[in-house]
Amino acid sequence: MSSTDRVHTGIPGFDAMLDGGYLPKTTNLIEGPPGCGKSTLGMQFIYEGTQLGEPGIIITFEELPESYYRDAAAFGWDFRRLEHSGLLKVIITSPEVTKIDLERTGGILERTMTEMGAKRIVVDSITHFEAAMVDTPEPTSKILPRKDAKARQSSAPTCTANEDTFAQRDRLYSFLNALKRQGLTTLITREAMYLFGDEEENQIDSGIHFIVDSYTMLRYVEIESTVKRAIIVLKMRGSNHDRTIRQFEIGTDGLIVTQPFEGQEGIMSGIPQRMAASFIKAFVRK
Ligand SMILES: Nc1ncnc2c1ncn2[C@@H]1O[C@H](COP(=O)(O)OP(=O)(O)OP(=O)(O)O)[C@@H](O)[C@H]1O
Ligand SMILES: [Mg+2]
Repeated sequence: MSSTDRVHTGIPGFDAMLDGGYLPKTTNLIEGPPGCGKSTLGMQFIYEGTQLGEPGIIITFEELPESYYRDAAAFGWDFRRLEHSGLLKVIITSPEVTKIDLERTGGILERTMTEMGAKRIVVDSITHFEAAMVDTPEPTSKILPRKDAKARQSSAPTCTANEDTFAQRDRLYSFLNALKRQGLTTLITREAMYLFGDEEENQIDSGIHFIVDSYTMLRYVEIESTVKRAIIVLKMRGSNHDRTIRQFEIGTDGLIVTQPFEGQEGIMSGIPQRMAASFIKAFVRK
């Protein structure tokens, strides 16, 4: 497949990691801890589309559209102008409404996508959707403001490998499939509830990592008293991809992916050590 068949993210260095970009009409997950750049990556993906004449939609369950206009403007992306010209739509909704709407033929979202000729969509973030799709008598009670993320974790039932998990996976699957049916390339962000690779306690296991076509993980890494950002593509169906863990930065033009972390291991655990040191620990000082 040539790179012209790829959906470019426009993120320097990241497209190369993806062997040119995402495959068209796929579902792509970006997972990472708070503030690591998930929404910026999503906005950049949508902005790149608009520059290529591919209209895009951002669906959010928590942020107001104004915060996207503001954050995008800081990178020089004029989202208001793009909305006026019909290349962009920022939609704030609830997971329940979205799911019901997409299940109907000719729902509001479907009509919007068709009218705009949308090619890209960002769901920022899927975490609320996952929480709302767990079976409980009052599903809306689990949609808490983002500041209560911890509370949401502890109040939302943890799914084990039982019927709940499968039912939830089914709902998630039909939601993401509905977007695919519309011919859109989807990027979904997901909150990871850790800062430096700690264990994810109580995080809902919806099976999303199995459903998506590609899975990219963002992480903070502490190296010699400096916090750096790391990115790795863990899975990409039907494509080759970079398997190194690279650094990325958020600058005046958005994300930029740079060099691999060299001479260190344990990067994704957040606590890297020099390879020589870990070699000595493992083999010499036994
Ligand atoms: N204009 C900018 N210039 C440089 N860095 C910026 C700029 N805007 C944001 N950042 C960096 O990006 C971070 C937030 O990025 P973003 O909102 O994309 O993260 P997120 O992963 O979506 O966060 P959350 O989990 O809170 O939704 C900020 O903490 C800051 O470090
Ligand atoms: Mg965000």
